[in-house]
Amino acid sequence: MTAHNHATVLENHSAAPFYVAVGDEVEVFRAAARRGLPVLLKGPTGCGKTRFVEAMAHELGRDLITVAGHEDMTSADLVGRFLLKGGDTVWVDGPLTRAVRTGAICYLDEIVEARQDTTVVIHPLADHRRELPVDRLGTTLSAAPGFQLVISYNPGYQSVLKNIKESTRQRFIAIELDFPPPEVETEIVAHEAGIDAETARLLVTVGNAIRNIDGAPLGEASSTRMLILTGGLIAEGLGVRRAVQAGIVETLSDDRDVVRALGELVDALLPRP
Ligand SMILES: Nc1ncnc2c1ncn2[C@@H]1O[C@H](COP(=O)(O)OP(=O)(O)O)[C@@H](O)[C@H]1O
Ligand SMILES: [Mg+2]
Repeated sequence: MTAHNHATVLENHSAAPFYVAVGDEVEVFRAAARRGLPVLLKGPTGCGKTRFVEAMAHELGRDLITVAGHEDMTSADLVGRFLLKGGDTVWVDGPLTRAVRTGAICYLDEIVEARQDTTVVIHPLADHRRELPVDRLGTTLSAAPGFQLVISYNPGYQSVLKNIKESTRQRFIAIELDFPPPEVETEIVAHEAGIDAETARLLVTVGNAIRNIDGAPLGEASSTRMLILTGGLIAEGLGVRRAVQAGIVETLSDDRDVVRALGELVDALLPRP
């Protein structure tokens, strides 16, 4: 993996990422890829969106260029800009332009954060034209075969869709991911954290109990990612209770009352020390 601005490049000769399919998302993505259609991945933070795209890019034999969305992102961050290099002004492709030229998958991760002018550049790329106007170079690039746009967002937050034209939006294939069912999540947590299945199952039980709390006092659910991090602490020798406290309970809230209530909920699920 090499850094490129706010972007990372996962070249296709990397090892196959570990991904356990949850539903038919792999089949849907394959079909969209064959047609070069853009994909919208919806799902809560830490549910496996990034890992899924990495796995698909690998399977399809494409490089993956990931851009992490942030609120200050401009279209130049995606398309490119002129930079001063040793007295000369040189054009440097942005990650989107690079993906368009090389036929890579361009993954705009959590693009919700981005401003409207950023989403405008993707319109002609996402629709039948498959082209990228590079105004500052006075050219329009046709996307190389293999180029595919993938956008992720968390529907719990403000919707990226309101910034995308209806006509463009209709071209996207939407795939909804959620936290995996318990058996699958147990397998994932055990594998990723390097813990036994029994301990992983315990963490998944805790995770699901917190996800099922009514009234949503929490901004985020206990994600698969958090369960993996917690499992990692256990693999490092920390007791299960302490690991759950540090990796889940304290992470989810700063509100003392909420933390206490979560602690009690979790306490009832974990075996006596
Ligand atoms: N279906 C899955 N198969 C394998 N690993 C998964 C899966 N879902 C989640 N993970 C694990 O959870 C971690 C967090 O998932 P990630 O893809 O980063 O979430 P998101 O991009 O939705 O925030 C990953 O690094 C991976 O270890
Ligand atoms: Mg992600």
